Amino acid sequence: MTRPSILISREVYPEVLARLGQHFEVDYRAVDAPLPRDQLLVRLADKDGALVMPPDRVDAALLAACPQLKAVCNCAVGYNNFDLEACSRAGVMATNTPGVLDDTTADIAWGLMLASARRIVAADQWVRAGQWDGWKLKGWLGQDVHHATLGILGMGRIGQTVARRAAGFEMRVIYHNRSRLPVEREAECRANWVDKATLLREADFLVLMLPYSPAAHHAIGAAELAQMKPTAHLINLARGGIVDDSALIAALQEKRIAGAGLDVFENEPALDPRFFALDNAVLTPHIGSATSATRMKMAMLAADNLIIALTGGRPPNLLNPVLNPT
Ligand code: GLV
Repeated sequence: MTRPSILISREVYPEVLARLGQHFEVDYRAVDAPLPRDQLLVRLADKDGALVMPPDRVDAALLAACPQLKAVCNCAVGYNNFDLEACSRAGVMATNTPGVLDDTTADIAWGLMLASARRIVAADQWVRAGQWDGWKLKGWLGQDVHHATLGILGMGRIGQTVARRAAGFEMRVIYHNRSRLPVEREAECRANWVDKATLLREADFLVLMLPYSPAAHHAIGAAELAQMKPTAHLINLARGGIVDDSALIAALQEKRIAGAGLDVFENEPALDPRFFALDNAVLTPHIGSATSATRMKMAMLAADNLIIALTGGRPPNLLNPVLNPT
């Protein structure tokens, strides 16, 4: 019996390749860069499944060009590169990698909060430039993270993990989410639900943890930034497009907010070049889940989903379960 054929659209770990090789005929593209769209369509045209990564776009046009496709497994928790409705219409299972990256992504929220509030990156650059001329009472003053108000927009698994860490800094935690958490979960996270206006007005650190959707496009724009405290810091670990980057750049240039820690951007990796001149923004290259252990877990989870999907099972992280009811 012929084995199902799959595409791995870009470089993964040898362990992941070996695992998939036990089950499938693998077309492996061992390159750590996105596959150009036209080549993705060609290489996927005769495949039963695919392990893909953002920004590989799986939409109606791709699905029409790949009639054999049964499963697309994203090596990421965010899946805004998938058109889920088109996948469902085409009878293609789509999966993501939730859970395994929650702690790692929550950790870096603290990295960005502290870096922004305490100006760590700019201070490092200043030291390296040989400009340090001694300790000063009023040198390099930042803001306290401890006992400040942490506001979280988007209170899914990662948002809740960020909230739990706030106890160590003795922070007050408020959040806004479309649906309110059960009271016992709120108590466990020591977080109180507030409306969005209150969140914007009261947060000293506003952490964005909501998934991207058209409804979330520019959820933070000029009007929202105008409601924030001039001493507040904005941390975006969610997705580019949730923040209106142009409006944020203007707010940072005019010091209408104190700082920002940004891991995701509109049109990344082609950032608005005005970001580079800001001394009150810390910029990281979409590394929220980037530790060796977590990226291995994500890739293995994507592989497991693909194996289960193509061997007749219900993948654990199926995003469009309408196709495969339990
Ligand atoms: C990374 O951004 C992810 O969605 O996993």
